[in-house]
Amino acid sequence: MNTKQTKKKSAATAVKHRAKNPAATAVKEKRQIAARLIPIYIMGKRYEVPEGLTIMKAMEYAGYILIRGCGCRGGTCGACGTVYRKPGDYKLQVALACQKTVEPDMYIAQIPFFPANRALYDFAVLTAAPEEVFKLYPEMFRCVACNSCTKACPQGIEVMDAISALKQGNISEAAQLSFDCIQCGLCTSRCFGELAQYHMLQLARRIYGAKIVPRAEHLAEMVKAVNEGRYDRFLDELKQAKEDELKKLYQEREVEPMAAGEDWKPKDTRYL
Ligand code: SF4
Ligand code: SF4
Ligand code: FES
Repeated sequence: MNTKQTKKKSAATAVKHRAKNPAATAVKEKRQIAARLIPIYIMGKRYEVPEGLTIMKAMEYAGYILIRGCGCRGGTCGACGTVYRKPGDYKLQVALACQKTVEPDMYIAQIPFFPANRALYDFAVLTAAPEEVFKLYPEMFRCVACNSCTKACPQGIEVMDAISALKQGNISEAAQLSFDCIQCGLCTSRCFGELAQYHMLQLARRIYGAKIVPRAEHLAEMVKAVNEGRYDRFLDELKQAKEDELKKLYQEREVEPMAAGEDWKPKDTRYL
């Protein structure tokens, strides 16, 4: 049998096999659907990319090498702020490139750095008096309550409410409302009053954590225990363990359940 005949026979066998094996056919069709190409525009240039990719992966597929605007790839570092618009829609939309999947005919541009005002301060001498925050960021009173910042936030933070709390001197409220901020700067890019909300709210969280919330006594106790060598033996055991043992220990470690109460304790209390 020559090469041509062999190929013909294999193709015929494959067709026969697929006909007998609907699951294999379904997988193949699924792959074909997943690989369907859609047009997008990156910085104004047209590319065809597989449907289902995130904007970040689509840019890489199109040949971009990301040395800025790319960090964790998991929606937590805030490095990949992106704006886009779709044809026939006047609205400029914002997203994280590592989270948002591409849609046909999107016009995309990344804004990984936004030149926003960040006040200089000596945190050690700063107090929790709201007036000090007002002095550092007097422009916060330029806020016109348009709510564009809240609409732009990929973390679903009520940014305008957090800024309002800060203006009212309620640093704790501002810190709590903005707890999930990832410093992407998208709110600032849309601000009518030209506020750098994320720097202001970061300051609020720093003041809240360091100067408003009471010190955790159990933390001081734990630091003391570490310094006194309570865990030296366990650490030595870990340092001497082989890689496989370490992996097993890690995989089998007991994790505190999400809904654990205040009095939750692990089964193994040796490390407490
Ligand atoms: S508050 Fe601003 S900087 Fe923070 S996550 Fe939301 S849009 Fe990004
Ligand atoms: S976008 Fe700016 S002006 Fe508008 S509500 Fe937010 S902080 Fe205020
Ligand atoms: S790369 Fe970190 S949030 Fe997108």
